Amino acid sequence: MNYILTAEGISKTFDDKTIFSGLDIHLPEGKTVALLGPSGIGKTTLMNILSGVMLPDRGKVTLCGEDITGKPGHISYMQQKDLLLPYYTVLHNVALPLIIKGVKKKEAMERARQYFDFFGLQGYENKYPSELSGGMRQRAALLRTYIQSDKVVLLDEPFGALDAVTRAKMQKWYLEISKELGLSTVIITHDTDEALILADKVYVMGEGLRVIDIENKPDDFELTEEFIRLKKEIVSLL
Ligand SMILES: Nc1ncnc2c1ncn2[C@@H]1O[C@H](COP(=O)(O)OP(=O)(O)O)[C@@H](O)[C@H]1O
Ligand SMILES: [Mg+2]
Repeated sequence: MNYILTAEGISKTFDDKTIFSGLDIHLPEGKTVALLGPSGIGKTTLMNILSGVMLPDRGKVTLCGEDITGKPGHISYMQQKDLLLPYYTVLHNVALPLIIKGVKKKEAMERARQYFDFFGLQGYENKYPSELSGGMRQRAALLRTYIQSDKVVLLDEPFGALDAVTRAKMQKWYLEISKELGLSTVIITHDTDEALILADKVYVMGEGLRVIDIENKPDDFELTEEFIRLKKEIVSLL
């Protein structure tokens, strides 16, 4: 198996409190893996380590075989509270990561504009975030994350604040665009259904880390007996 992102032997302790120790995560190229677990278990901490914004006490993170432990900027990362800035237009918000990287504002905006159609945001370039629905704001935040550069995307509870109907639509939409764009994704969720719907592999963070592989998902997977069986298995691990 070809892994685009790996984390091996990852340990982290805050003030004598061991959050996890010796964790291994493997993200196959072009696939989605979910990190599932209750609040406070250490999902965001693990994501910070994967992205390079936080150093682990032990262990190593590699991207395409290269050591990126503690080196941010190689992976697109959408943090849990990744809000759009209210005083910038949607287009300006989406272009910001490029501007921060040193791309000229006009060029950054032009590059960002090209994706609006694909992300379902056509016509909203010059609106302000408050004029968008929750789902659209989240698509804009995802586009802003995607535009940071990379084929590897880390998403920390991206759909957590959405109502159930919008959330289901966004999950379907993300399945489609991640295939079309060839993204490799690590997504954090505390929702078992969301993990099963989006992921090819689920890491269940409970006492230790358990891996559940989901292969050959049929259409309407969430209506199958296999889905229910996996859900029971995961709930028993949490
Ligand atoms: N920078 C930090 N300093 C000290 N404790 C922290 C820090 N970041 C997180 N923690 C603690 O680590 C635990 C895991 O937090 P977090 O990774 O945010 O969990 P999750 O994302 O699963 O809800 C929590 O008990 C939290 O209080
Ligand atoms: Mg968190």
